[in-house]
Amino acid sequence: MYRFIVAGGRPLRGTVQIASAKNAVLPILAACLLTEETCTITNLPMLEDVNTMLRLLRSMGVTVERKGRSARITAGGRVATEAPYDIVRKMRASYYVLGPLVARFGQARVSLPGGCAIGARPVDLHLRGMSGLGAKVTIEHGYIDARAKRLAGAPMMLAGAKGPSVGATANTMMAAALARGETVISGAACEPEIVDLADFLNCLGAKVSGAGTPELRIRGVRRLGGAEYRPIPDRIEAGTFAAAACITGGDVEIRHCRPDHLTAMLDVLRRAGARVETGRGSMRIAGSGRVNAIDITTAPYPGFPTDLQAQFTALLATARGTSVVTESIFEGRFLHAMELLRMGARIDVKGSTAVIHGVEKLSSAQVMASDLRASAALVLAGLAAGGTTEVLRIYHLDRGYERLEKKLTGLGAKVERAGSPG
Ligand code: EPU
Repeated sequence: MYRFIVAGGRPLRGTVQIASAKNAVLPILAACLLTEETCTITNLPMLEDVNTMLRLLRSMGVTVERKGRSARITAGGRVATEAPYDIVRKMRASYYVLGPLVARFGQARVSLPGGCAIGARPVDLHLRGMSGLGAKVTIEHGYIDARAKRLAGAPMMLAGAKGPSVGATANTMMAAALARGETVISGAACEPEIVDLADFLNCLGAKVSGAGTPELRIRGVRRLGGAEYRPIPDRIEAGTFAAAACITGGDVEIRHCRPDHLTAMLDVLRRAGARVETGRGSMRIAGSGRVNAIDITTAPYPGFPTDLQAQFTALLATARGTSVVTESIFEGRFLHAMELLRMGARIDVKGSTAVIHGVEKLSSAQVMASDLRASAALVLAGLAAGGTTEVLRIYHLDRGYERLEKKLTGLGAKVERAGSPG
């Protein structure tokens, strides 16, 4: 398996270019199933999760012509309506084919994704969305089976005990796009990736309004057409480089990003004492010495993203003073804290709260990545530590960060990939 070897202690300096958002691209690729016409998605990020989604579409009989960063996708001929366990277990976001399949073909059989390193991750809200549109949903032999002659639009409340769900909102919005009549989703997720999916669907001829607010309205249409579409930049990748700039006391210009999608994070950075400048489509983040301790609570958008919690936990591990980080979305998402302890961090995790007593310097160690964002946090810690850190199980990183070691090297870090794909 690949691992990263990170020589710490070099401030990052220079310019880095952000890729398109993984979490916008994945539902957009699945949404191509809603039409028989060709959709061209441009500026695709070179990520393992994108490869997996394209592999899933191909396995269903969809024509996928990929040329570098573009993919032409045509779900024109016979489409198999099953997403097998073999693919879904590699990437939970495979469940994004559920809504499009049942809406266009009247049936879908999608493997249940099962557990995951960051928490329980139930799918009850996805099922609520499909049933709410009139599908008959059953769970058998580890698969979700959803059937309907034609879905029927309806009002529904889609938030759960933890608040809105990005995935369930996206799945239901895609399904409702081809349903008869109007669907009103209350308690909808407001994430920029939801807005991007709505924009894409509208390019195909859908009638979605209210995206970015808790109330989404979708007037169903009979059929959708094709389009060419370029997804939004990845706010989590941008936020990860911002944290990397600060933890190393560097100065980094982050290009092709949307600072307006990162308001909560930029506010945290400013209050922690970083220098933040934002422009149109770019931002410059500079740290000088240790940041100030600060409390963070993750929340649905526009709150502080759970997908940046691990990276900021690493940053605060070297802050001046004591910070409290509360994870309100995925209660199990603190495995990185246990690895950071091995690097000399002082973190007490109790339930969904981490109390972080900042130390002056982290020390290098061999550490193990448990999920995508935890991996990024460990790489950041390695960049700031004295000595050489080895981060094992880097395959998690490749799912969601495009050539992270190359981008970091471009900023003056010393990060090498070692080992084999595994
Ligand atoms: N939830 C339910 N029932 C459901 C679905 C979700 O109770 O049916 C709960 C979850 O357990 C969680 C909360 O609702 O407590 C929010 O989960 P959500 O459904 O919004 O998460 P998701 O759609 O599965 C996406 C991203 C995650 C990101 C979360 C939260 C994709 C492919 N994944 O997941 O990204 O953390 O939204 O913003 O878009 C990552 O990129 O590293 C990642 C994990």
